[in-house]
Amino acid sequence: LLMLFQMAALAQQIVIAHRGASGYLPEHTIAAKSMAHAMGADYLEQDLVMTRDGELVVLHDLYLDRVSDVATKFPERAREDGRHYVVDFTLDELRQIKITERRKTDNAADPTMAFPGRFGLHKSHFGIHTFAEELELIRELNRTTGKTVGIYPEIKSPSFHHQNGQDIAAATLQTLKDHGYTTNDGSVYLQSFDPHELKRVKTELMPQMQMDLPLVQLIARTNWKLTQERLPNGQWANYDYDWMLAPGAMEVIAQYADGIGPHIGMLFDSNDAKLAPNALVKQAQARGLVVHPYTVRADALPKGVNSIDELHELLFKQVGVDG
Ligand code: G3P
Ligand code: CA
Repeated sequence: LLMLFQMAALAQQIVIAHRGASGYLPEHTIAAKSMAHAMGADYLEQDLVMTRDGELVVLHDLYLDRVSDVATKFPERAREDGRHYVVDFTLDELRQIKITERRKTDNAADPTMAFPGRFGLHKSHFGIHTFAEELELIRELNRTTGKTVGIYPEIKSPSFHHQNGQDIAAATLQTLKDHGYTTNDGSVYLQSFDPHELKRVKTELMPQMQMDLPLVQLIARTNWKLTQERLPNGQWANYDYDWMLAPGAMEVIAQYADGIGPHIGMLFDSNDAKLAPNALVKQAQARGLVVHPYTVRADALPKGVNSIDELHELLFKQVGVDG
């Protein structure tokens, strides 16, 4: 009986492929998503941004410079900060650029890659694809393999999109609905760093569209300068995350979300993961929230952790995260 309980508990712990199998292939490419599907991921993650003509594409940054040859193809299209923003390009234009491995910096002239030596720009032919195309790919892979791999889209910087005349949350929901993702049936989680937009999705958009998807509140540190929140005017649109780590915060989040996605560093009492886990996970789970921390990366293990296996052991067995 104990074994059955343990198996049931383990079955609820899911593996989410962050930007696809991005430890092996360039992030957010069709190849990386296909590989993650084949490797046995339970969910595939999609970061979403919008084009000038209102198409959702799967890309982490609001701008193209860290993962593409856009500066070579469209040198005249940079904004004042030197970056080329997806929202300034049509999908047809984006089809002309090549995607490659992520650079460590957003300086196009900087050759330092996150994964040096593999899939350089001139040795590969990866491109940008739409959210709809990825959903169709996953549907087909599920059909041909008999698997039921889910999706885990992230609405990137809704405030930036609003400033540029785009309602990315509404567009995301519409695309999800068009592809049959409408209920909390285990096939989808929808995530964002923006609590205001998540509340809008929960209380306005989903009721209007007759949808009921589980939402995940991503949590960062207020002073972290996350790339998706950097605005073209050079300022940072930081959300206030501090309240999310204060006592009682999980009750507030549970009113509009079904889970939290904290940075893994927030699960421990210090940056040394060998120290005791803090109370965040238990507090969230006590309020019925699932906990899916980001990001497990072989090249960025927490201090005191020596391997991915060790981190999995720590997160799944000792800390007890849900994914
Ligand atoms: O989706 C969770 C995690 O991916 C958030 O961080 O910057 O990789 O989108 P980021
Ligand atoms: Ca993400």
